[in-house]
Amino acid sequence: MGEATREAAEAAIDVLLQERREFPPSAEFASGAVASDPGVYERADADLDGFWLEQTREFLTWATPPAQGLDWDPPHCTWFADGALNVSANCLDRHVEAGRGDKVAYHFVSEPEDEDDRAITYADLLADVCRFANALRGLGIGKGDVVGLYMGMVPELAVAMLACARIGAPHVVVFGGFSAEALGERLESTGASLLVTQDEAWRKGGRVPLKVTADAAIELAPTVEHMVVLRRTGADVPMQDGRDVDWAAFVDGQADTCPAEPMEAEHMLFALHTSGTTAKPKAVVHTSGGYLTYVAVTHRWIFDIKDDDVYWCAADIGWVTGHSYIVYGPLANCTTGVLYEGDPMYPAPDRHWDIIERYGVTQYYTAPTLIRAFIKAGPEHPAGHDLSSLRLLGSVGEPINPEAWVWYWKYIGGERCPIVDTWWQTETGGIMISSLPGLVTAKPGSATRPFPGIRAAVFDERGNPVAPGSGGYLTITRPWPGMFRTLYQDDERYVSNYFSRYGHSTYFPGDGARQDAEGDFWLLGRVDDVMNVSGHRLSTIELESTLVEHPAVAEAAATAAPDPLTGQTPLCFVLLRAGREPSDELAAELREWIGEKIGKIARPKAVIIVDDLPKTRSGKIMRRLLKDVAEGHELGDTTTLRDPAVVEDLKRQTDAVLRPKDPPAGV
Ligand code: WT7
Repeated sequence: MGEATREAAEAAIDVLLQERREFPPSAEFASGAVASDPGVYERADADLDGFWLEQTREFLTWATPPAQGLDWDPPHCTWFADGALNVSANCLDRHVEAGRGDKVAYHFVSEPEDEDDRAITYADLLADVCRFANALRGLGIGKGDVVGLYMGMVPELAVAMLACARIGAPHVVVFGGFSAEALGERLESTGASLLVTQDEAWRKGGRVPLKVTADAAIELAPTVEHMVVLRRTGADVPMQDGRDVDWAAFVDGQADTCPAEPMEAEHMLFALHTSGTTAKPKAVVHTSGGYLTYVAVTHRWIFDIKDDDVYWCAADIGWVTGHSYIVYGPLANCTTGVLYEGDPMYPAPDRHWDIIERYGVTQYYTAPTLIRAFIKAGPEHPAGHDLSSLRLLGSVGEPINPEAWVWYWKYIGGERCPIVDTWWQTETGGIMISSLPGLVTAKPGSATRPFPGIRAAVFDERGNPVAPGSGGYLTITRPWPGMFRTLYQDDERYVSNYFSRYGHSTYFPGDGARQDAEGDFWLLGRVDDVMNVSGHRLSTIELESTLVEHPAVAEAAATAAPDPLTGQTPLCFVLLRAGREPSDELAAELREWIGEKIGKIARPKAVIIVDDLPKTRSGKIMRRLLKDVAEGHELGDTTTLRDPAVVEDLKRQTDAVLRPKDPPAGV
């Protein structure tokens, strides 16, 4: 760990060590919990294959049941490789065949209030999926053909994903907040031949122009031959004859049945991009049988899913949380879920509480950044609603600060609902470290224990386990069914990024952690040049290379500043090209530039125009000093800098922007 990171981690540990409150499950919750046998941890650990084979047989319906469990040829694995199944049949057909077609799969809640709210049953969803799958086939799309999906939070996104799964066409969902360039790159690099999008999406009462952005994106992705366009707002959008087709016309006349062809367990289900330490996003590959097993089991046990529950994961389907815990896990478990289209603060900060009350939501899963926004909005918003249907809360995306945890417990959970703090990643497919709510005592700020069958450890630089209480690198030392199999067409990067630091058998997620004396895990944030903004990963280099594409910029350096709401926020320093004058307007323009080129989530807190960047004599930017500046710490060792005065100037400018002096008391 670098000096600055270590200092930050130690400061975080100090805070967390003072956090001593413990929240054991109530006797009532524990006695009724889905996962109630403490022996499951030992059993899974002692017989990994036996455990997962048993789970997959119990949770899924295989066309050819697997005899094989794990095949581990480090760092590559397969699970259930001799089995075959269809993912969409596991999420839909078998429930309908079992007489549960009338059960609601999703309560769709549209952002414009009461406008298009509707309940979609498993039978409805199956029929829609079949029609869309037939239409895909009609277009010549089949097994192995990549389909891009660029949509808002509408049920049709789940329909399209499941239709792809039904015919074995891997989907690549791109979050609807991404720019044309980001979308184009993701489509081009995965060779998508079809893009499914919508006219516009509703967001904060406004309209997000998805189709227009998609048009610009496919200029960069020549493999895309067709676009299917869902009408959501009804806006007049350009449609190109022969290339673009309305969703309604696309499925018109298609049969509402469609055979679900069994796929081999290791068939690619989807790829999903995430940021890494280079400018090129990584397309993480997940396959069928292992992934579906893992998300189904983790979903039911961690969220304590019972048949009459109304479960709500308030994430976006465009991120892995939505893939695993809005679509695949919940549907495999025949769960009733809420699917909310819009912004949590629209039209008022009580929108979520209104939905929970109205639909009788039992489990609610969200991110710390949103909890902090709710804290800021004030406890009167949840207090105005009856939240007594809730019986469990979840958190994901970044470490949850103990204060936010306790607020969540008190004001949302009514001091009654266990909170599961779930640590995982796009790469892991599903939750890796979290309490099982009926078995494990929660501690605010700790994700607690690895899921049954997962072995995690905290290592030092050299790969030795560190003593309890000390910070180090989190590692996972054994494969699990939901593990990513590779990076799309870039296996070399899969090996070097994740399985080189401690050898091919140990997965290196890039997070710092410590274990306490009881073995519980406390996550300490990223240890690489990747930041976590509102639970979304962004890489410094992605921001830097975007900035230098601007004609005014000669050089750029990006870092992360702490932010009370979003966790971290990007902060960028730029050197201008000769002849360009610094100005507030230009700084603002560069901020917007990033917003346009990558997406709004990447828009930095500030772009600071500087005369020079802190560099070593050999010309390398000293990133730890940028971090010190952004975090407002005393500067570390500056003796190896070419010009130590440079960093002082950076610090002065940054403090002026991020930490303006408080006005004198009484003003
Ligand atoms: C990174 C993964 C998993 C879905 C959302 C983000 C951070 C995630 C936690 C948690 C502490 C967490 C980690 C991880 N993270 N959950 N409960 N406690 N940190 O997926 O974009 O792949 O990001 O998010 O730093 O590496 P992702």
